[in-house]
Amino acid sequence: MNTAQFLVKSDLNFVDKASFTWQTPSNIALVKYWGKSNPQIPKNASISFTLKNCHTVTTIDFIKKEKSEEVTFNLFFEGKPKDEFKPKIAEFFERIQEYCPYIFEYEMTINSKNSFPHSSGIASSASGLSAIARCLMSLENEINADLSEEFINKKASFLARLGSGSASRSIEGPLVVWGNHPEIEGSSDLFGVQFPYKVHSVFENYQDAILLVDKGEKQVSSSVGHNLMINHPFAENRFLQANENLGKMSTILQEGNIKEFINLVESEALTLHAMMLTSNPYFILMKPNTLEVINSIWQYRQEHNSNICFTLDAGANVHVLYPLDEKESVNQFIDKELAKYCQKNQYICDATGLGAKQL
Ligand code: PMV
Repeated sequence: MNTAQFLVKSDLNFVDKASFTWQTPSNIALVKYWGKSNPQIPKNASISFTLKNCHTVTTIDFIKKEKSEEVTFNLFFEGKPKDEFKPKIAEFFERIQEYCPYIFEYEMTINSKNSFPHSSGIASSASGLSAIARCLMSLENEINADLSEEFINKKASFLARLGSGSASRSIEGPLVVWGNHPEIEGSSDLFGVQFPYKVHSVFENYQDAILLVDKGEKQVSSSVGHNLMINHPFAENRFLQANENLGKMSTILQEGNIKEFINLVESEALTLHAMMLTSNPYFILMKPNTLEVINSIWQYRQEHNSNICFTLDAGANVHVLYPLDEKESVNQFIDKELAKYCQKNQYICDATGLGAKQL
């Protein structure tokens, strides 16, 4: 794998100070990534919708310092110092230092906030780490001016991946593939790429209502979950199946076969959770209300001949997916029948989005 392309080769023209602000989105996988090897190499390829409204906004202020052996940074979340997030960010900087040697030259102050409610159970690592990666690439571009837009996005995704695998899919949009796959041109285990084929109009502006079924801290983190795929009895078949599913998904997205889309997306969500149920130690992230919501969606779909479906992340919340032309009817259904299964009746209306934006 060609990681050498991400090393900084030319001389850098350091500036005394710089500041960049990026808004980067969350994403929801349609074919799931679950299982990895070092360093953050996925066991199978995955594809996700980039979201529009769920995002992180991060500013990094860089002040030139004497070069030192240590990476120095301050971290603020929603205006307050956030020391408990520091070890994860410090580990991220350690993993990327080879590719971003300039981080030793600056004192960094990171200010971050999310558009979604704090501890909503929505994973913020994808948007959070992709935002930091994108700010670093703005600095790299400033001190090493001849980088192409294409390279900047590729390296931002590459860096984000080293922080959190799914973060590699949070730079571009509306559909991103991460993981080497024979049917997806340009795909790589090292970074996410925009789905390279023309997508059928039915999947344009696809809607995602995120039902906040459980806002608590997950009992099992995704890094522990990924590790439980090592020696998992069904792992090898799962990785094969996921790659096959990505091939099928590629055709579905191009042809606009929404019935097959529904079947594949729901099967992927339940298979992800089946892997958790059959890990050892086993664990369950769904809550009773997750199942209530799923059953209500199935009933509504049958009774209304609707194209609504669901997917799940590594948690209890449910992503309700539906085409734009059902927005009004499905929103009414969610309000009337599904909101009651959410904590404080809360859900977030989102849709597919176009990726990172500089502010
Ligand atoms: O990026 P991580 O390590 O938090 O893993 C995310 C895994 C899932 O969200 C469950 C699936 C996916 O592909 O996003």
